[in-house]
Parts: sequence; structure tokens; C-alpha cells
Amino acid sequence: MRERDHFGSRFAVIMAMAGSAIGLGNIWRFPYMVGEYGGAAFIVVYLLACFALALPIFFAESVIGRRGRSDTFGSMQKLAPGTGWRWVGLLTVLSPIIILSYYSVVGGWSVEYLFKSLAFDFTGPEAQIEGFFGRFISSVWEPIVAHTLFIGLTAAIVLCGVKKGIETFTKITMPVLFVLVVVLVCYSVSLPGSEKGVAYLVKPNFSKLTAEGVAAALGQAFFSLSLGVGTVLTYSSYVKADENLLYSGVGTAVSDLFFAILAGFAIMPAVFAAGIAPGAGPGLVFETLPFIFNRMGVAIPWLSALVAIVFFLTILTAALTSAISMMEVGVAYLSEEKGVPRTRAVLYITLFAWTVGILCSLSFGPLSHVHLLGCTIFDFLDKLCSNWLLPLGGFLFTLFAGWKMSRADVFDEFTNGGTRNVRLFGVVYFLIRYFAPVGILVVFLSALFL
Ligand code: PHE
Repeated sequence: MRERDHFGSRFAVIMAMAGSAIGLGNIWRFPYMVGEYGGAAFIVVYLLACFALALPIFFAESVIGRRGRSDTFGSMQKLAPGTGWRWVGLLTVLSPIIILSYYSVVGGWSVEYLFKSLAFDFTGPEAQIEGFFGRFISSVWEPIVAHTLFIGLTAAIVLCGVKKGIETFTKITMPVLFVLVVVLVCYSVSLPGSEKGVAYLVKPNFSKLTAEGVAAALGQAFFSLSLGVGTVLTYSSYVKADENLLYSGVGTAVSDLFFAILAGFAIMPAVFAAGIAPGAGPGLVFETLPFIFNRMGVAIPWLSALVAIVFFLTILTAALTSAISMMEVGVAYLSEEKGVPRTRAVLYITLFAWTVGILCSLSFGPLSHVHLLGCTIFDFLDKLCSNWLLPLGGFLFTLFAGWKMSRADVFDEFTNGGTRNVRLFGVVYFLIRYFAPVGILVVFLSALFL
């Protein structure tokens, strides 16, 4: 059998995992949720959710992946041979492919917006901002072409392999991404009137922190850390045996959190400075920011165009590093379990996600009347994944690591044979075994009943 690829260094592991974690979830979802659910109060709950709940799930996935040294299906099969657990592995091969199909549509929007910024379309004298977003997403061809470009780029990186493709790409782009977002924060908070946006983010308002807000914080931590869909498991299977899993987990969680907060400070102050009400969802970034660039472009057009370019480049890069991690889960499965050559595995998954993505894209226009359980195709798939498949996958992973694997195996993997993190193990194991599954049930049930 061909030797498995692996990440070259600890830095590479953290950059790849952080690349998966940091994405559209941080840029449009987090800032909006912070404002919606009580500012700093929400951040406190989010912090707790990340470190007490999401991080143990992260460790559970890492332990399974590195112990199994295979894709999600293969790892489960190897660690619990002849049991039904491998079907859990298969479920978590499917869910990231579904996410990829609609995520790529939004990734495509960022491609389109980057081109528009490069052409000075948001800042030139004839800028046609009014209604642009609505017209664009409801049209047939433009968003499909953009989606095709985005998924094509993703496929090209994954095609190059774990080390040459994913590692090289994320090692270069992640540090650049941090620099870009810091530049944006400086610009954003320097705008007159930005203080209100800063206050929106930092003022704790505990009265807004409802049960729904707590559930939202947990759900956001899940989505943001890419948990429950096998990406952490698959990436961990490429982590060398002597690497400390504690570092990759904490490193990823900290950078993801840090980036989410930075993104909040890059977006909200500018939104308030431009006198725009903080809207919800992707609309906040795609609908309101061109207005901001346009308005500011009146004074210094080149600066405003430059900021627009930096902005959409940031979004595109963040989305790409997440999309490659979604694709890799399926590619690993097809090549390791089915013996499909990597090139063809990439092709199959790309074709599948591309086709479903086209339906998602059309669901903003010609297919907007098609409803599944009362949602458009895009919304249905998003809800299916964020509210159901992610928590379900995370729940099953913690059950597997906490109850199915032997304590000795989990100990051995987490502590590198008893040489690292030994004192922490008891707490982590308790969180994996009891706290995390119960916590996930709470998210699951609240998504159901709230
Ligand atoms: N974490 C990514 C983001 O914040 C999304 C993602 C979910 C990536 C699941 C991989 C798997 O955008």
C-alpha cells in the first residue's frame, strides 16, 4: 500500500486545521451573532462553549483519526471492527460534501465580488450598488460561473495532495489572512462614527442572552471549529505520532476565536460608521459592505478600492481553506476505502458538489419556488447540516472516543504513550465522556424545540 501523506510540522498542522476552522462562519456569522445575542455577554458564553465543549469534541475526533490512521470510515472500521460504527464514519463522509456544495456557492459570491472590486465596480463613479446583491444571486449564469471557479480552485489544491497542496497553501495563506484582517480592523476602527460598532461588540447585555443565545453560541462553536463532519478526524490522521494533539487542538481553537473577534472588529465598526443597520447572515458582508466602500470611495477612491480588494480576498482565502478540508474527507475515503486514484476521487466529489451547488445557486432565482420542508434548497441543506448533521456527528464521535474506545487507547493517543499531557488527561476524558455528549444533546434539542 502507498505510504500515507502527512503534515510536515506542528506549524503545518495548526495552519491546516485553523484553515479549515476559519472561514465564512467567522466572517459573517460570528459578528452578527455577537450583536444579536448581547455583545460581550455572548462572547463569554462562546468562550465557554469553545473550551468546555467544542475542544473536547475536537480532541475526540483527533484521537480517533490519529489512532485509526485512516479516513473516517476506515478509522472507525479499524478501531471497532465488525460493528455498525463504520456507518457513522460513512455519514461523516457525506456531510462535508453536502456542506461543500452550498458553501461553494457563497465562496463563488466572494470570487465575483473580488473581480468587481478589482474592476473598481464598487468604487468607480458609475458604481451600481443598489440592489446588486439581489440581482446577482438571483441571476442564472453569473453565480454558477463563480461557483464553478470556486470549486475548481478548491479541487486544484486538493488534487496536489495533503503535503504539496493543502499544507503548502494553508501555510502561506493563513498568516497572510491574519495580516489582511488586522489591516481591515485598523481601517475600520479609524472611521468616524465607528465607536458605535465597537460598543455593539463589547458592551455586555445579559438581558439579550436567552436560552436561544446559549444554544446559538454552542452551534456557532461547532460550525466554526468544523466539528462533527470528519474534517478534524481526517486531518488528524495525517498528524505524525510524536505530535502533541493538545497543541493542535488549542492552537486551532485559539486562532479561530481570535480571528472571529478580529473579523467582528473589521466589520461592525465600518457598518456603523456608514450608518447601516447591522443585518443578518451573508447579506451583511455581501450587501452592505459594497455600500461602505462606495461611500468612502467618494473621498479617496483608490484607498476604498484597495480596502474592498483586501476584504474580498480575505473572505475568498478563508473560504477556500475551509472548502479544501471538506473535500479532503471524501477524497480520503474514496482513495483509501475504494482504491479510487486521487485524481478521480477529486473529480467525482467535485462533480457531485458542483451539481448540487448549481441547484443551491438556482434556489435564489429560478428555483426559488422549490421548497423542502418549507425551506429553499440552499436553506434546507444549510439547516440540515448546521442543526442536525454537525451536532449528530459530534455526538457520535464523543460517544465513540468516550465509550467505545478503551480508556487506555484514548490515554495513549492523547498523551503520546504517557509522555505528554498526563495530568490534563483526567479532565479531558471526563469532558469527552460525559460533559460533551450531554452538551451536544442540549444544542440538538434546543435546535429542535426553540
Ligand atoms: N469552519 C468553517 C467556517 O467557519 C466551516 C466548516 C464546517 C468547514 C465544517 C469544514 C467543515 O466557515
